[in-house]
Amino acid sequence: MRPTLIATIGPAGAGKTTRRYRHVPPMATVISLDERRAALSPCGCSTDQSVNAAAVETATADTRAVLASHGTVVWDVTSYLPRFRAHLLDVAAEFDARTVGLVVLPPLLTVLAQNSRRDGRVCAVCGTARRVPEPTVWAMHAAITDALPRLHTEGWHTLHFLALPPYLRHRHHGRNT
Ligand SMILES: Nc1ncnc2c1ncn2[C@@H]1O[C@H](COP(=O)(O)OP(=O)(O)OP(=O)(O)O)[C@@H](O)[C@H]1O
Ligand SMILES: [Mg+2]
Ligand SMILES: [Zn+2]
Repeated sequence: MRPTLIATIGPAGAGKTTRRYRHVPPMATVISLDERRAALSPCGCSTDQSVNAAAVETATADTRAVLASHGTVVWDVTSYLPRFRAHLLDVAAEFDARTVGLVVLPPLLTVLAQNSRRDGRVCAVCGTARRVPEPTVWAMHAAITDALPRLHTEGWHTLHFLALPPYLRHRHHGRNT
């Protein structure tokens, strides 16, 4: 079987973790940076950015192992920056893996409302909360919206648009293959 790398692309609070279950093959290895940060963080916070680089490093090593054995790996991540998507595509290319992008981009107000229902208490150790600052959500949403027109040029074999704002839907008609 050809190795496969699936990655979610969507801002914090968009519903990636909620939606991915419907699109993940049963034998796939799920890579959650949230879970890895929580495991590495001295305070146990999934949002602790001080351990992010280490989380990406271990996640990348595990991804190489899965792809080398022709498995499927699913990155449950925001992938909102082009260089982060490029990192995933580069690792996949090392193993000639199929790549699938799952775009989860509901309207900004929906994402902000979902984010606002999360725990806003700030950890005294790492200074973060499960609820992401609204400007951060907005910046992630804007970055992905901005990248949408050229996402199909990045090198994904398949792109699935699981959620898009109504005003963006027409632009992607017929491009999700
Ligand atoms: N379609 C939906 N309708 C209503 N609520 C939803 C929907 N999708 C997700 N939610 C809620 O929104 C919140 C964020 O969803 P989820 O945890 O899946 O986001 P995420 O994209 O994985 O965020 P993060 O990047 O921070 O991990 C959760 O509380 C979830 O229950
Ligand atoms: Mg999540
Ligand atoms: Zn903390």
